[in-house]
Amino acid sequence: MGTLIVTGGAGFIGANFARLALAETSSRVVVADALTYAGNLESLSELEGHPRYLFVKADIADREAVRALYREHRPSAVINFAAETHVDRSIDDPSAFVRTNVLGSFELLDGARHYLATLEPRARQGFRLLHVSTDEVYGTLGATGAFSEQTPYAPNSPYAASKAGADHLVRAYHETYGLPVLLTNCSNNYGPYQFPEKLIPLMLLNALEGKPLPIYGDGLNVRDWLYVEDHARALALVLERGGAGETYHIGGRNERTNIEVVRAVCALLDEMRPAPGGARERQIGFVADRPGHDRRYAIDPSKIERELGWRPAETFESALAKTVRWYLDHEDWWRNILARGYKPVRIGELKGRSPR
Ligand code: NAD
Ligand code: DAU
Repeated sequence: MGTLIVTGGAGFIGANFARLALAETSSRVVVADALTYAGNLESLSELEGHPRYLFVKADIADREAVRALYREHRPSAVINFAAETHVDRSIDDPSAFVRTNVLGSFELLDGARHYLATLEPRARQGFRLLHVSTDEVYGTLGATGAFSEQTPYAPNSPYAASKAGADHLVRAYHETYGLPVLLTNCSNNYGPYQFPEKLIPLMLLNALEGKPLPIYGDGLNVRDWLYVEDHARALALVLERGGAGETYHIGGRNERTNIEVVRAVCALLDEMRPAPGGARERQIGFVADRPGHDRRYAIDPSKIERELGWRPAETFESALAKTVRWYLDHEDWWRNILARGYKPVRIGELKGRSPR
């Protein structure tokens, strides 16, 4: 009920979440997004014309734009997906990461603080700001164990550090001003509408086009994969039933090495669209490692399972097959991204510039 502002809703997870929120709640959904290279109105085209949906172009680091969002739309909740999200880009140029992820999150929090002061006590009590964060704030794991909500922060990339900075502000706004915030840290997502710079869609597109599949380092880095719709459902549950000031970890207990993931993508593509030259695994090649490459991530989702009853609906096998099918069936969506100038080439390598 009421109005839900979805910042960063033209991105991968935000667009999946906005779709779910419109379908499964009676809230008015206002997507606010700056439309950076990663923002894509084509990911929201099905929602156009929906009576409870509105798109607003807005930059979360622009104080006036943020204050206007609160003033004009009087939200009962805000969910913040807006961020610079690609680790390799953060290695080449961290400045946009600090601006959006730290300063932008600050403006959203501070805007909420001022907005809440204008509300009646009942509306103020019901308000929630959910900040969507990542498991990368914890740095890297060794061969065993998993990140819990108590794990100390130890970010290694500029991206992770900027997300960690935002998380600290979220916590501080709760402790200092009593702002009713919620914080979630999720593991690697995959599924429809993911920008093709990220591992799974990048490998998919390169594999389809007969290009090399560049695996960083030895390919044995581990990520903990979650289907984006499972993430979106978890977020909806946290918004509805999570305790103000609480942090929830979201993950599907789905650890895979990068090489396993890329082989699985190749196998699915071979099955769904066989290549004339034979198995696509032959396109795999090992390239220079990512500087500061975290070895392993794993999320312990016990708290959200126990307290909110969340469980992922998909397995990695079922959802990866759906994802490959989606990219095959939505060639226009990714071809338009390539046509707008995105080039799937290696970045973030610090070639000849490494201080190490
Ligand atoms: P994405 O890069 O696909 O989308 C980010 C969106 O934010 C884009 O639509 C972009 O236009 C918008 N944006 C960027 N700067 C903005 C600004 N200054 N003002 C307003 N909008 C702006 O990202 P995603 O993968 O959907 O990630 C969404 C959130 O989830 C991020 O906060 C990310 O850190 C977090 N997260 C992502 C993953 C993952 O695997 N993708 C996992 C855990 C957490
Ligand atoms: O863990 C959550 C995070 O997952 C999110 O916070 C980030 O926004 C999201 O981008 C993702 O970060 P990663 O760095 O894990 O994702 P990426 O898809 O860039 O890389 C996944 C793994 O694959 C990582 O170990 C690096 C490796 N990789 C990536 C690319 C793009 C390759 O081996 N080759 C590649 O070409």
